Amino acid sequence: MTIRPATVADAADLSRLHTASFEDGWTRDDFATWLARREAMAVVALREREAVAFGLALMAGSDAELLTIATDPAARQSGWGRQIFRALDAHALTRGLERWVLEAARNNVPALGLYKSEGFMEIGVRKAYYDTRQGRVDALVMSRPVGSGSGHGAA
Ligand SMILES: CC(C)(COP(=O)(O)OP(=O)(O)OC[C@H]1O[C@@H](n2cnc3c(N)ncnc32)[C@H](O)[C@@H]1OP(=O)(O)O)[C@@H](O)C(=O)NCCC(=O)NCCS
Repeated sequence: MTIRPATVADAADLSRLHTASFEDGWTRDDFATWLARREAMAVVALREREAVAFGLALMAGSDAELLTIATDPAARQSGWGRQIFRALDAHALTRGLERWVLEAARNNVPALGLYKSEGFMEIGVRKAYYDTRQGRVDALVMSRPVGSGSGHGAA
């Protein structure tokens, strides 16, 4: 497993992975725009040179805001998502950021499992925030200190 920073050159791979995971997947141009931003922190996981997972976060003041994380559907539940988050966390720590914040759909069981197991706590709810094919779904707003996961040896 190789995890490295993602650059604009990875925009097409990130779009492929995002589109495989979300109803309204972002385009290559969307990712090229995000990745060119100075506040962006992004990592991609490679298996035999093929991108299988990625994460994209933004620096917002002293916060690290997790925008999206996705694993190729065929490669899920093999530890990629956790490694992607931990790589982003290491970047956030290096950059002196203090707090992770993210939003996740209340019914997104895999994502909530990942975030809770990485120490995220619910700090708010945005009612009916997501408009999905199954109807409107609440967003849970979650937070955790940067660098506080078990991957860093802290509590
Ligand atoms: C969420 C997602 C990124 C997890 O990626 P992954 O590579 O499968 O995650 P991992 O294998 O590293 O699993 C890490 C933890 O997540 C949780 N988890 C993952 N899949 C799960 C599932 N299907 N059900 C319940 N918990 C799950 C578990 O706690 C797991 O830890 P464990 O294996 O020790 O039990 C992946 O399911 C995905 O791409 N989903 C679609 C995109 C998405 O919803 N992104 C999040 C938006 S907020």
